[in-house]
Amino acid sequence: MTDSNDNKPVIAAKTPAVMKLGAGDYWWCSCGRSSKQPFCDGSHKGTSFQPHKIVLEEEKKVALCNCKHSGNGTYCDGSHANL
Ligand code: FES
Repeated sequence: MTDSNDNKPVIAAKTPAVMKLGAGDYWWCSCGRSSKQPFCDGSHKGTSFQPHKIVLEEEKKVALCNCKHSGNGTYCDGSHANL
């Protein structure tokens, strides 16, 4: 079921997910509805959101957006401070 709220991201947290990820592919949750933040668990189904793929060639420390309002997509740009 869809309603107007399905077109707005849910703020999962107002702090980024700072973590070290190994080389590989990851799916970042853009809708904020996943219970496995910051990664997609399929909860976007029925909304206008799709997960964003992250491809890492090597181990990297990242700050992934949890507020889902970053202008930098997957990565935190500090936008959570204005929410
Ligand atoms: S659960 Fe949020 S994008 Fe998949």
